[in-house]
Amino acid sequence: MSNVDLSAKIPNNVDLSQDKRLLRALEQWQPDYLKWWQEMGPTDFQDKDIWLRTAVSVDAEGWANFDYVKMPDYRWGIFLADPVPDRRIGFGDNIGQPAWQVVPGEHRNVLRRLIVTQGDTEPASVEQQRLLGHTAPSLYDLRSLFQVNVEEGRHLWAMVYLLHSQFGRDGREEAEELLQRRSGNPDKPRILGAFNAPVDNWLDFFMFTMFTDRDGKYQLLALSESGFDPLSRTTRFMLTEEAHHMFVGETGVERVVQRSAELMKLDPNEDVRKQGGIPLDMVQRYLNLWFALSLDLFGGEISSNAASFFANGLKGRYKEDSYEDHRALRETYRMVVPKDGVAAEEDVPLRNAMNEVLRDAYIEDCQRGVDRWNKRLVEAGVSPRLRLPSKRFYRHIGLYADMPFDMDGGLLTRQGWEKRKGEWLPTDEDRAYVATLQKPVLEPGQIANWIARPARGIKGLPFEYEYVRLG
Ligand SMILES: [Fe+2]
Ligand SMILES: [Fe+2]
Repeated sequence: MSNVDLSAKIPNNVDLSQDKRLLRALEQWQPDYLKWWQEMGPTDFQDKDIWLRTAVSVDAEGWANFDYVKMPDYRWGIFLADPVPDRRIGFGDNIGQPAWQVVPGEHRNVLRRLIVTQGDTEPASVEQQRLLGHTAPSLYDLRSLFQVNVEEGRHLWAMVYLLHSQFGRDGREEAEELLQRRSGNPDKPRILGAFNAPVDNWLDFFMFTMFTDRDGKYQLLALSESGFDPLSRTTRFMLTEEAHHMFVGETGVERVVQRSAELMKLDPNEDVRKQGGIPLDMVQRYLNLWFALSLDLFGGEISSNAASFFANGLKGRYKEDSYEDHRALRETYRMVVPKDGVAAEEDVPLRNAMNEVLRDAYIEDCQRGVDRWNKRLVEAGVSPRLRLPSKRFYRHIGLYADMPFDMDGGLLTRQGWEKRKGEWLPTDEDRAYVATLQKPVLEPGQIANWIARPARGIKGLPFEYEYVRLG
């Protein structure tokens, strides 16, 4: 196991103290980061003690250590998964060659772009969620929010480390710009669409961590296959943190759904709204929105960029090991391609369909989550079920961008879409209603009426534990 220097100003397991130039550059960036955190991180609560986990080493036991900490004192650091000895590039045209320890000149710009695009999502999500602390449905949830926030901050550190250590002056400039863009700001927006969408209530937050963080997981999985070894090791460690974010989302929606089912049972007309809960058809509309926004993050269905990332060994497939043909030159991918208003099937060379291959793995994972939510509905004895919309629904990028597909992927007229979109996407009225439920419940052991308690607390502690000390 690699040594973690925890006493350093910047905790790390990359021997930062041995590289004075890099250390200086990162120590210069650190105050700018903290300034950004104060300005754009969670509002208030910065002086409160929060029961957070933080890495003290990167092995199985040490990476998740729990204690009370104030967020600005969180030990944001640089942690890479341990190196795999004699690691080789596992796919594409350079298969079998030693993995690169230094960024290769011919792929420098592309890798920088990949790292910046990933890096930009991390502070963006913190910005999107900065007001949610005021309306947390319980202390347990408040703590989950802050845990996610500080770890997204650390993910930014992870990408900034790569920029500073491998990309010289350009990298340092990019690292500064990562602190200057702002989610939802029309003049200096974040790079990707979903990271500019408002997350202004807890249903959005749970859908975001379920669907949008899960896109992050699949991007990280694809990058962890990279022949650029520092990127692979960084993303492998990030994945350990990411898993918790999706747990927050998946169980968050699950608890909403469970509570809605309970309230249906309580009401003589199964009127969840009357009982102060979120009706399941409304949950479905939020699901549709965040699923579609998140699908866009994978990029176009047919992509020459994706093909060259793969060919050059920069970005692999989910579980590349499980494939036989690591060059992906022989196969094709059949997809539905709209042409002149008709949907025709087309065989696309596999390398050009790599975004779609990753998107499919993601959808399968999302479906597993939806199945779990439906199990709760079955157990509760209510009849509605949730489902994923078609991957053509409400897309803004790729083959199906801005075309009026319904939830099942059927093509509507523009007029038909306008008439029915309120059935499928959150309406102003939905938003206004969900907003009325956003009232903080911050007494230990208490929970808002619209969401069920979690099955268990954090790390063996009860739900009633004082996860955030507000006093
Ligand atoms: Fe992240
Ligand atoms: Fe995340």
